[in-house]
Amino acid sequence: MPQVMNTLAAGTDTSSSVIATMLHLLAQHPEAQAQARAEVDALVASRRTQQQQQEGGDLSTGDALQLGPEDMRGALPYLSGVFTEAIRMHAPVPGINRQLDRDLHLAGGVTVPRGQVVYCPLKAFSNDASLWPQAGSFLPERHLPGHEHLLPADRAVFMPFGGGARMCPGQRLAQLQALVVVARVLRAFEFAPAPGAPPTRWIKALVHAPDHVTLTFERRRRMMSGPDEKQQQQQQQQE
Ligand code: HEM
Repeated sequence: MPQVMNTLAAGTDTSSSVIATMLHLLAQHPEAQAQARAEVDALVASRRTQQQQQEGGDLSTGDALQLGPEDMRGALPYLSGVFTEAIRMHAPVPGINRQLDRDLHLAGGVTVPRGQVVYCPLKAFSNDASLWPQAGSFLPERHLPGHEHLLPADRAVFMPFGGGARMCPGQRLAQLQALVVVARVLRAFEFAPAPGAPPTRWIKALVHAPDHVTLTFERRRRMMSGPDEKQQQQQQQQE
């Protein structure tokens, strides 16, 4: 039972935090939002064609084809980059503790004795301008192949899920959840920061999360419609 409670506690606020952060960042960066949406639309179109070929039927049924976890494996690289960049800039778990099981010898002759608890500031590592090129910029592409120049020389400084034997077991699930939710939002809506809303701040608690993300959503009716529905809409407009 304690393991179940641990998993629920560790997996709830972290997941909602990263989803809210992704929506916030995509609202702030319309060009990234458009790129992520184009990727999702292309995925839906390719799945629809595949299904049509398999079933030989007419699938002109609007957005009946729902994206699920099975669609996400490697299929949305840019949106995966948005996920990784969101947890780089706003790490939901800002740091972890470790108790040393042996003396730790640091450069400069400093020794931290065995038994001491040391804090690893994960969030500080992933925002350190001396380690990351353009550390303050939202650049989902830095996590895609061919953009290694935007990553730190030592990749070990990026550990949003911790490391070693106690590393987060929910890493894969967290990414899948976030991709499914945000892909569906992108498919259905265009969104932007709500005019006049106060700036978003990150609550500094055990889990870092935005205090609020206030957005306006516009439904994408035309894009969501299949050919039959589009025809109906056109007929209604003519009448
Ligand atoms: C973006 C989302 C998430 C982030 C950033 C995150 C991050 C972390 C970090 C940094 C740790 C500490 C690892 C360490 O000490 O080395 C951890 C532990 C843990 N996480 Fe996550 N996590 C996320 C989502 C989830 C989800 C979805 C679940 C489960 C459904 C989960 C379950 C756990 C559990 C059970 C532990 C404790 C592992 C242990 O102590 O052995 N996490 N997580």
